[in-house]
Amino acid sequence: MIAQTSLAGKTALVTGAAQGIGRGIALELAAAGCRQLTIVDLVGGPELRQTVADLETGGVEVLFVQGDVSETATATQAVDQTVQRWGRLDIVVNNAGIARPTTFFETSDEQWDQVLRTNLRSVFLFMKYGGLAMREQGGGAIVNMSSISGITGGSTGPDYGASKAGVIALTKFGARRLAEFGIRVNAVAPATINTEMIARNYATLPPEEKAKRLAAIPMGRMGEPSEVGRLVAFLASDAASYVTGETVGVTGGRMSS
Ligand SMILES: NC(=O)c1ccc[n+]([C@@H]2O[C@H](COP(=O)([O-])OP(=O)(O)OC[C@H]3O[C@@H](n4cnc5c(N)ncnc54)[C@H](O)[C@@H]3O)[C@@H](O)[C@H]2O)c1
Repeated sequence: MIAQTSLAGKTALVTGAAQGIGRGIALELAAAGCRQLTIVDLVGGPELRQTVADLETGGVEVLFVQGDVSETATATQAVDQTVQRWGRLDIVVNNAGIARPTTFFETSDEQWDQVLRTNLRSVFLFMKYGGLAMREQGGGAIVNMSSISGITGGSTGPDYGASKAGVIALTKFGARRLAEFGIRVNAVAPATINTEMIARNYATLPPEEKAKRLAAIPMGRMGEPSEVGRLVAFLASDAASYVTGETVGVTGGRMSS
C-alpha cells in the first residue's frame, strides 16, 4: 500500500525553486515520490542548474520555465506547458518572493508595487491558472508561501508584511471557493530560514541586531529550506486531505509573538 504522504504519480509546479526555500521544497517533493516537476524562476544560472541536476539525479523529470511570476504570460505558459508535457498538474507551490529591507518613509512607491506584484499578484495568477487546470482534472493542492511577517507585520518593510498577509487572505478565500472542485489551498508561514534572502537582509543589520534576532528564536537556530519543504510536501499530499484554508507556521518556536 502506498502511504498517503507519498506524492508518487503526482505532477508539481514550484515557483522560485532555483535556490533557497523553493529548492528545498522541490527536493522534498521529490523525496516524497514526485517524479514530474516544473520550476518557474527568473534566473537560469548556476543555482538553477544545480537544483535541476540534483532533482534529475533523483530520477525526477524537470521542466524549467524562465519568467517573472508576476506576469500573466508566465503563469499561463507554465501551467500550459506542464499540462502539455505530463497531462496534469496536481500540486502548485507559490514560493517565489522578494524582500527589500526598508524603513516606512524610505519605501518608494515603486518598491511597494514591485513587492506586492511579486509576492501577491503572482500567487493569485498561479492559483487562478493552475486552479483552472486542477478543476478540469477534478482536484489538486495549492500551497502558498506566506511568512510570520504576514501575521505580525514583521520588520522587513511595510510592503513585505502586507504582501504576506494578503497571501493568507487569498489562501482562505481560495480554500472556500475551490473546495467544491476538489482543490485544497493552504499556506506556510516560516520565520527565519537559512537562505540567500536572509543572508542579504542580515548583511544590512548591525551585528547586535542580528544577534538579538537569532536569540529571539526559541530553538536557537535558523530553519533549513528542507524543514519548510517537508511541511509543504505533507500539505500537498493526500495525508492532508481534510486540511484546507490553514496557514501553518514553521518558526522554531517564534510563532507570531
Ligand atoms: N528566508 C526566510 O527566512 C523566509 C521567511 C519567510 C518567508 N520567506 C519566503 O519564502 C520564499 C522564498 O524565499 P527564499 O528565502 O528562498 O528567497 P531567495 O531569494 O533565496 O530565493 C527566491 C527565489 O525566487 C526567485 N524569484 C524572485 N522573484 C521572482 C520573480 N519575479 N519571478 C520568478 N522568480 C522569482 C529568485 O530568482 C529565487 O530563485 C519567499 O516568498 C519569501 O518571502 C522566506
